[in-house]
Amino acid sequence: MRGHEQALARIVGKDNVSADETELFCYSFDASIHSSGPNVVVRPVSAKQVSRVVRYASKRRIPVVPRGAGTALCGHSLPWHGGIVIDTTRMNRILETRVEDLYVVVGPGIVYSELNSSLKPLGFFFPPEPGSADVCTIGGMVAVNASGIKAVKYGATRDYVLGLEVVLPNGEIVRTGSRTVKNASGYQLYRLFVGSEGTLGVITEVTLRVAPLPDYTATALASYEDLEAAGRTVTKLIKSRLIPAALEIMDKTCIQAVNKSLRLNLPEVDGLLIVEFDGHRSAVEHDMNKAEQICRTENPTTYTWSDDPATRERLWAGRKAVLPSMSRLKGGQVSTSLADDMIVPISKIPQLVRSIAMTARKEHLTIGTYGHCGDGNLHAKVLLNVREKGAWGRAWRACREIYRTSIALGGSLSGEHGIGITRAPFMKMEHGTELNLMRTIKAAIDPSNIMNPGKLSLNQVPKTFVTRLRYPVGR
Ligand code: LAC
Ligand code: ZN
Repeated sequence: MRGHEQALARIVGKDNVSADETELFCYSFDASIHSSGPNVVVRPVSAKQVSRVVRYASKRRIPVVPRGAGTALCGHSLPWHGGIVIDTTRMNRILETRVEDLYVVVGPGIVYSELNSSLKPLGFFFPPEPGSADVCTIGGMVAVNASGIKAVKYGATRDYVLGLEVVLPNGEIVRTGSRTVKNASGYQLYRLFVGSEGTLGVITEVTLRVAPLPDYTATALASYEDLEAAGRTVTKLIKSRLIPAALEIMDKTCIQAVNKSLRLNLPEVDGLLIVEFDGHRSAVEHDMNKAEQICRTENPTTYTWSDDPATRERLWAGRKAVLPSMSRLKGGQVSTSLADDMIVPISKIPQLVRSIAMTARKEHLTIGTYGHCGDGNLHAKVLLNVREKGAWGRAWRACREIYRTSIALGGSLSGEHGIGITRAPFMKMEHGTELNLMRTIKAAIDPSNIMNPGKLSLNQVPKTFVTRLRYPVGR
């Protein structure tokens, strides 16, 4: 890659291109179970530079993989076939803020919470709040249609993208969408790039709708001896025409994990719910009272709510720490993102939770389940002795079963994390002939298949996710 390094240095400057072994090693990981590295990394600052890099790659059929902060949980930003990683983190400027027009224009590399810090004094925000809010980039969020705890009320990234600038696989720079809150002008192509995981082009600018910040927020915590009772409460809340700003669930395994790692004192029950409302104070208080009555019909063992910011933070502490805490629960076992993002119609949550528990027992696995029950989206973390080969076989069978059930219940493989490599083997199961349509679109836009090849099952279908693992696996 020496020659390539020199040629790319002429585009982005020699300080912004690297083929250094240590650096390439760092770029061979994200937050997934996999590892696969590039041959060279570039850090452009403009769409023009991105375009020249992509043109260079396109002429030589070198794979190109865009990358933000690398927080993806299933391998989207790992170059499966080597090539050039385009690190967008230097394209991190806020280019225009017009809250009176309800939009902001940003570079793809800006970090989610930095964008919201700049909007806060104006009384606005970009709501989808993923778990990785303090580090993830907006470009990455668009690429996977990310969301998080607020999606139940505010929706996902796709609901806020008004327009994009994208560098296509031939190097052409296109603008799609507009700076208006609605638009009925032909194909909504900007939407096609939302969730495309870098397989159709490189996002170089994002126009996002912004929402007014609520004046007042209140949070409740309810614990239930029985996970089913927690699930029934969710259905009752939604049916009663309440729209919580967040509605979250944690099972006993997750509660034990956060209690252990953070020394919290959460009740170790089968199901814990967090219910949050935001808006005008009188409306929130009304909704909170109604929610309390509903929550109490299922006999919670504890119930508390607060509008005090410090207390609310304590109520959220356990939930927000689940992901980093799970690997500390059992010595020698690592929390893996395998079947970690299924989504089903909201009322099917109890069925899905029951089925995950049965599958875990059948395959002798510990699975911690938690997530955004208010919109039907669950994260199931499989704890594995990753060095033991047999454990991966059991995990594979369990995940296949969990995905089958989710799809049979009318759901999908992913609510907010995307497909990447880990979920690619299951794409056909969910999409059937729709996958052929995706392949047709991919072939039309990227005929040489240089953009993030190997992802989403578009060209190759990996037989299993037990491939290029980041862990040394023994027998
Ligand atoms: C969460 C991330 C993992 O909800 O989506 O914690
Ligand atoms: Zn989540």
